[in-house]
Amino acid sequence: MFVPISSRLMSALCALALLAGTVPAVRAADAAPTAHVTILATGGTIAGSGATSTTTVGYTAATVGVDRLIQAVPELAKVAQVKGEQVFQIASENMTNEHWLTLAKRVNTLLAQPDVDGIVITHGTDTLEETAFFLDMVVKSNKPVVLVGAMRPGTALSADGPINLYNAVLLAASKEAIGKGVLVTLNDQIQGARDVTKTNTSTLDSFKTPELGMLGYIQGNKPYFYHVSTRKHTVDTEFDISKLDSLPQVDIVYGYANVGPVALNALVAAGAKGIIHAGVGDGSLASKVAPSLTAARKQGVLIVRSARVGQGIVARNGEANDDALDFVVSDTLNPQKARILLMLALTKTSDSKEIQRMFYTY
Ligand code: SIN
Repeated sequence: MFVPISSRLMSALCALALLAGTVPAVRAADAAPTAHVTILATGGTIAGSGATSTTTVGYTAATVGVDRLIQAVPELAKVAQVKGEQVFQIASENMTNEHWLTLAKRVNTLLAQPDVDGIVITHGTDTLEETAFFLDMVVKSNKPVVLVGAMRPGTALSADGPINLYNAVLLAASKEAIGKGVLVTLNDQIQGARDVTKTNTSTLDSFKTPELGMLGYIQGNKPYFYHVSTRKHTVDTEFDISKLDSLPQVDIVYGYANVGPVALNALVAAGAKGIIHAGVGDGSLASKVAPSLTAARKQGVLIVRSARVGQGIVARNGEANDDALDFVVSDTLNPQKARILLMLALTKTSDSKEIQRMFYTY
């Protein structure tokens, strides 16, 4: 038989249970989160707006400020004590080496503070993988750094920015993300900075690590990790950008049928200190381009053979005699990430053997 309990009796029972230590004084779900996460906003579609709710292309990126991004997701307050800083407000195709240096210095300064537990960086998706890898090489902390973007502007039906931002803050506030290197999250997935790439112009599942695999998922307000990269990152790299205001000029030349040496020669004449050759197949060199690459190397320009296919190891001494030509191979780094590693390598040395070691280390 159901016997109603008066509210006074219920209070008395609860007080007794509290005294007996069987009920926590504050339920975990009600407690203020203890982790402090700073959101550094740089622009992109996650801060973009369109003319109508069905505008998912042809919108304007980088229009909404960090305060509005945070206000739009009140649930953030449940997972971390959040502060926001507007570092830039740009579409990410305009990201420069100087932006990266400014951003990395700010990240390192914040992470050195005891009252910052993690950083989230909101970013356009077009060059997000590059910024993530740059930070992976130069951030000097084990604390979580998470890059996040969105494939749809905030004004769109089913905008992905709010849930992606929530997941990013959750991840940056988590113990699980400590020491994993710089992370990227969109679409409930956790990707590693070294190997993730944007694979689709517009779909929500654009960010992938096709062959080496993503690191994990975020589900039910919790990150789950399954893989980590064996490559060194963050506190284990030899790169220090704290005193740098610029990076050596490194450019990419693309391989394709009927290619000639015009672009390559122009870049070398414009002062490139390094060239990433995004060759066809296993980084093959067309016979019309190879003499210019050889000549550039003899002038002191560092040459890295990478591959436009985006997956797989570029074999040293495979499609070219790298030992004889004094070239470097990119290992599995795609051309845009090979450019970053070569720029950082050139801040330390111009010895091609040392630089090859770095490409096999990071
Ligand atoms: C950008 O990269 O800034 C624009 C595209 C995007 O964020 O998805």
